[in-house]
Amino acid sequence: MNVEDIKKDFPLLENREITYLDNGATAQKPIQVIKAIEEFYEKSNANPHRGAYELSIEATEEYESTRAKIAKFINAKHSEEIIFSKNATESLNLIAYSYGMDNLKKDDEVVISIMEHHSNLVPWQKITKATGSKLKYMYINEDFELSDEEIKNKITDKTKIVGITHVSNVLGTINPVKKIIQYAHEKGAIVIVDASQSIPHMKIDVQDLDADFLVFSGHKMLAPLGIGVLYGKKEILDKMTPFLMGGDMIEYVYEQETTFAPLPNKFEAGTQNVEGVIGLGAAIDYIENIGYNKIHDLESEVVSYARQELSKLDYLTLYLTPNVQNHCSVISFNIKGVHPHDVASILDSEKVCIRAGNHCAQPLLRSLGIDSTCRASFCFYNTKEDVDNLVKALNKTYRMFKKYINK
Ligand code: ALA
Repeated sequence: MNVEDIKKDFPLLENREITYLDNGATAQKPIQVIKAIEEFYEKSNANPHRGAYELSIEATEEYESTRAKIAKFINAKHSEEIIFSKNATESLNLIAYSYGMDNLKKDDEVVISIMEHHSNLVPWQKITKATGSKLKYMYINEDFELSDEEIKNKITDKTKIVGITHVSNVLGTINPVKKIIQYAHEKGAIVIVDASQSIPHMKIDVQDLDADFLVFSGHKMLAPLGIGVLYGKKEILDKMTPFLMGGDMIEYVYEQETTFAPLPNKFEAGTQNVEGVIGLGAAIDYIENIGYNKIHDLESEVVSYARQELSKLDYLTLYLTPNVQNHCSVISFNIKGVHPHDVASILDSEKVCIRAGNHCAQPLLRSLGIDSTCRASFCFYNTKEDVDNLVKALNKTYRMFKKYINK
């Protein structure tokens, strides 16, 4: 399967003449995902777990079989370790409120990296303040990576929770999550992995990583917007109290007390985003059909080419690890002296879509002495021609601004 054939599966890429390089924000959807949702509404729509009639039973079976598919996809031991949420943000808030609030005590420490997206940072500010515990950061070195020394300095016997993004949504740095988990476990801490930016690009095996929690959003991995996943080890989830209260997460409700349903329903209050779940199942089928090895080969070729071509532009500052093996899919850069929003607007006029701004990672950007970057982020359907279009549009932008820079 070559990239031109793959591209044909993505109607938006066929319908719009654009160079889409904002896959870190959301990926485009293959026709197989769109059709699976259509088919669900045309043939199987009912509210799972609610009806005793055939249609509802079928909807329940589709919903639950997708849960089992996801468990297999990330190699979870049990299906009920997969909880559906709205997105990675909701999954992280669930962990912060249900696990963090009940398990942190005064002077305990939560350690996160400075690379975290606000969704794995702001909830911990709230929870550490509420519990009297402390929030500490692992900072990056000049290669935009976490050093072993920094990891070992920050994760100590006081650490109870470590939050770490697998791949930075700004830098594309791949963090050594397996090593961090092993070290944190030696110190008695549990580890939450944010796999939102890694799972579209690489195989995730929660048992091999030994992650206690792992979260991701569906929409960055070809699934619809508004569906997310929380994986948690069963023994930990079993002990946690629910985050959202309401329908289908209960066992018995009395006037003053309630007992809760077992996993996974305990954490899935209210009617769920069933079309999102069905779409996520179809996205997983699509990814598995191409295979992560092929995805890796396709992406490495294009991202390596992008690294090479962007490095030639001496008017750019790149925020990029020199260690190719620790880099994945995302390249942040600035044209010296030009605001990233101006760059993105001119690129847009050349039909090149990138993201510009703080990428929901203000503390990281502040630590780098900047407040925003331009960001190109890649998917396996991108080509070297997309990189050439980006470079051409950047050259045009630079030509337009050159005379104002440094004045
Ligand atoms: N969190 C997404 C991004 O990094 C939206 O662009």
